[in-house]
Amino acid sequence: MEVVITPDYDAISRHAAGIVARLLYKKPNAVLGLATGATPLGLYRELIRLHRQEGLDFSKVTTFNLDEYVGLPADHPQSYHRYMWDNLLSQVNVSPSRVHIPNGMVRDMEEYCEWYEGEIARAGGIDLQVLGIGRDGHIAFNEPGSSLGSRTRIKTLARETVEDNARFFDRDEDVPRHAVTMGVGTIMEARQCLLLASGSLKAEAVAATIEGPITCQVTASALQLHRDAIAILDDQAAGRLKRREYYEWVFRHKESWLR
Ligand code: GLP
Repeated sequence: MEVVITPDYDAISRHAAGIVARLLYKKPNAVLGLATGATPLGLYRELIRLHRQEGLDFSKVTTFNLDEYVGLPADHPQSYHRYMWDNLLSQVNVSPSRVHIPNGMVRDMEEYCEWYEGEIARAGGIDLQVLGIGRDGHIAFNEPGSSLGSRTRIKTLARETVEDNARFFDRDEDVPRHAVTMGVGTIMEARQCLLLASGSLKAEAVAATIEGPITCQVTASALQLHRDAIAILDDQAAGRLKRREYYEWVFRHKESWLR
């Protein structure tokens, strides 16, 4: 895994946006895998800025989101549908017909999840998947114990995740206990993965992901097997890495072999 350690959150966002923008310039009809949570907000703000100020074009882009809460309608203020439209999609020129966000309200989830996987395949697969990381090392909603070969399906959220999400809901009992999520296997098929992490609360999960064993107890650790995964961290999220000096050394010397 390539590890990029930046000074702060804004630098993570700029670095990640640069990678997304370069992809879109090279492949205007790219398929983007998108994530929710607080971490990618800066990336989305930067993409909106690039769209407005530098004409970054989303008109041919297809998007697939990682996950959605089960039981929340698309227009619920805490749904990931709302999050995506409020924080990115309504502010760039993406075509709504090419936006895919899992539907947490369908009756036959099994059939629906198979269809969602099929849609990704019919779009030609995901070129670049944006990922955040949960405190317990999960990606999307693949909680500890999720099979590293898993596909899109319903997951029961871990207590830790429910607690982390409680701040967004008025009452604890309103916090969804289930989500429909791409599997680790689905994510691993993306041609490139960008894992973003900021702040000391993520430092332990980040260290386990990058330097720990590959284990379903830390589903992000599966990215060690991905041929093109980049972890973009800030100083605090990198705080528990043992080989930090090496990653910084590699980054400093990257320019010379790219030339
Ligand atoms: C949720 C989402 C993940 C996200 C994680 C961390 O669990 N399903 O995709 O990575 O939260 O969110 P945050 O970036 O707010 O810390």
